[in-house]
Amino acid sequence: MESDRMRIGVLISGSGTNLQAIIDATEEGRLDAEVAVVISNKENAYGLERARKADVPAVWIDRTEYTTFRAYNEAIRDVLLEYEVDVVAMAGYMRLLSKEVLDTFPDRVVNIHPSLLPSFAGPSGIREAFEYGVKVTGVTIHFANEKFDEGPIIAQEVVEVAEDDTIQSLEAKIHEAEHRLYPRVLQLLAEGRVAIDGRKARIEGPF
Ligand code: GRF
Repeated sequence: MESDRMRIGVLISGSGTNLQAIIDATEEGRLDAEVAVVISNKENAYGLERARKADVPAVWIDRTEYTTFRAYNEAIRDVLLEYEVDVVAMAGYMRLLSKEVLDTFPDRVVNIHPSLLPSFAGPSGIREAFEYGVKVTGVTIHFANEKFDEGPIIAQEVVEVAEDDTIQSLEAKIHEAEHRLYPRVLQLLAEGRVAIDGRKARIEGPF
């Protein structure tokens, strides 16, 4: 029988600990969805191995085989469509997505970022927040758009920076928060409880 669970396509570039948290949540029944496919722009991303171990199709799409950003993104879109993905979760995917991909999944592409956006956007959010000396930082999950770390914020979790935190201990706390928050937000999407109001995302009901 065909399942009507939400199908997630996860995009990665690296170790895939967030991917693992999402897979675990689906297996443990905390997230009523399935990971339909994992796509990486890096051949040796450990997340691809995590996908294979969980019997999830793992696809590396080699950027060097495409002459343009647009053609590369069309290849990504085609794989997402082939696996009948409903929601695209960027989880440590270190590239932008093209308008064609975003328009194929309107209000269904989300990203996770390890700071309280709009502070400390970019690839070194944890380190920059730590070096700045902030007392709180955290995790943001937002709808993706054509720019890095922008788009309506769905949820944020605060992580306190203790006096004795090191960059490593702060990273560990942030990753722990990420692994908690991402499956919860994906569950909200599965329940159809996230709406977009202008530039703001709104969660309907308790969270
Ligand atoms: C996470 O910190 C995520 O917020 C950022 O990249 C990292 C990916 O880690 N965008 P992982 O590959 O999920 O372990």
